[in-house]
Amino acid sequence: MTVPFVLDTARLHLRRIDDGHLDDLVALDSDPAVMRFINGGSPTPRSLYEDTLLERMKAFGDQPFGYAAAYEEHRFVGWFHLRPSVADASVLELGYRLRRDAWGRGLATEGSRALVDYAFGELDRTCVDACTMPENAASIGVMKKCGMHYAGTFVHPRAGFEVVRYLVER
Ligand SMILES: CC(C)(COP(=O)(O)OP(=O)(O)OC[C@H]1O[C@@H](n2cnc3c(N)ncnc32)[C@H](O)[C@@H]1OP(=O)(O)O)[C@@H](O)C(=O)NCCC(=O)NCCS
Repeated sequence: MTVPFVLDTARLHLRRIDDGHLDDLVALDSDPAVMRFINGGSPTPRSLYEDTLLERMKAFGDQPFGYAAAYEEHRFVGWFHLRPSVADASVLELGYRLRRDAWGRGLATEGSRALVDYAFGELDRTCVDACTMPENAASIGVMKKCGMHYAGTFVHPRAGFEVVRYLVER
């Protein structure tokens, strides 16, 4: 059974990603600016979503966290995740990817703060972390606005490059 994962903020509605989000995810990743600090700017092939990525994003359906599509007034603007951290699987890791036309209005901060509050409240977690390329100033800005502080640098096991880790404790 799939566990609900739904959050509402002042401007955003978040709900668990499912098969119906394939087109939105492919379109989001087709913008080189969105992918700049993920893989250097390459669009993600649709076949990669069909073969592995969508299943990975749906993988936490039996948990009260995972990947959530974000809507602003019924329009898909991107996604957020709360998932076991690559740095420490006992901690939940925050992540986000928004369409370029949604940037610069505080939406990532708004969704992220709601997810951190949810992790500390409903999920009774004591720590949330996040990681990104050191050059990704926008992402680090969101982390800091969630109260996170720098907690080290490590080589991301899947990406294979160095990332900075930030975390916030309850
Ligand atoms: C990272 C991302 C989600 C930020 O979304 P956003 O909604 O524009 O972020 P916010 O508006 O909440 O900004 C938060 C803070 O980050 C900082 N910031 C935002 N964009 C910035 C930029 N381009 N350069 C430097 N700082 C920036 C600001 O300090 C801002 O705080 P302020 O409002 O007080 O100025 C968005 O840029 C994105 O989706 N990028 C592509 C995907 C990505 O890189 N994801 C993260 C991978 S780890």
